[in-house]
Amino acid sequence: MILERPSVINLKKLQSELDGIVNRPDMDELSELIKMYQLYQAGQKEISTKLENLDSEFQVNYDYNPIHHMESRMKEMQSLLQKAERKGYDLTTKAIEDNIYDIAGIRVITNYIDDIYNVEKLLVDQTDVTLLKRKDYIKNPKDSGYRSLHIVVKVPVFQATGPIDVPVEIQIRTVGMDMWASLEHKLRYKTDANPELVSKYGDRLKGYAEELEQIERGMQGIHKELI
Ligand code: GTP
Ligand code: MG
Repeated sequence: MILERPSVINLKKLQSELDGIVNRPDMDELSELIKMYQLYQAGQKEISTKLENLDSEFQVNYDYNPIHHMESRMKEMQSLLQKAERKGYDLTTKAIEDNIYDIAGIRVITNYIDDIYNVEKLLVDQTDVTLLKRKDYIKNPKDSGYRSLHIVVKVPVFQATGPIDVPVEIQIRTVGMDMWASLEHKLRYKTDANPELVSKYGDRLKGYAEELEQIERGMQGIHKELI
């Protein structure tokens, strides 16, 4: 199952949404950015299909699905430009392509912890997929308690003029890690309005992250004995 959030790639709608951007790109540059979006979206589809195919293969061979579900999203143009501005990059397609790798994103939610690394290996071992970046927040959780495996891969998209490599960011995490991250995200988001909430619940959530890890490892052990 893939849940897709709609993306914005319409020039008119885009212009009206860019009011908050100080150095707004001109029309030509915006057209280039929209072309880039289409390309990145195609890369995202390539990777989604690969992941779906891996999951189906497991289903046939082992009567088991490592992937619980996937979500894919394109970064909104407004937040892309805000990020570029925040990081001090030029607001050009070139500078954005060179520096920002999470324009096309896929979140893969697995059943168990081992599935995360299996999915990663099976994807990255494919001859047309290249690993660009890797952050293992499961081995090294963030201070908040956040756990997930983040990788950026590049995949060729075949255009009329030939293949173009496109980066896609993939966050791979278990159902438990996802549940935790959703709640913690909500807490951080609400913090803008009420900063006491983080000090009230931050430590407790960090503790829950550790407990969840133990529970997930325990359940994985039982699951292994059953297959
Ligand atoms: P950016 O340039 O800001 O993307 O920095 P980065 O590439 O170093 O990002 P990082 O590896 O921290 O991953 C960013 C994404 O991971 C965020 O958009 C969130 O989806 C997720 N994430 C990272 N840290 C946390 C956290 O503490 N809590 C939650 N809920 N999500 C997190
Ligand atoms: Mg990022």
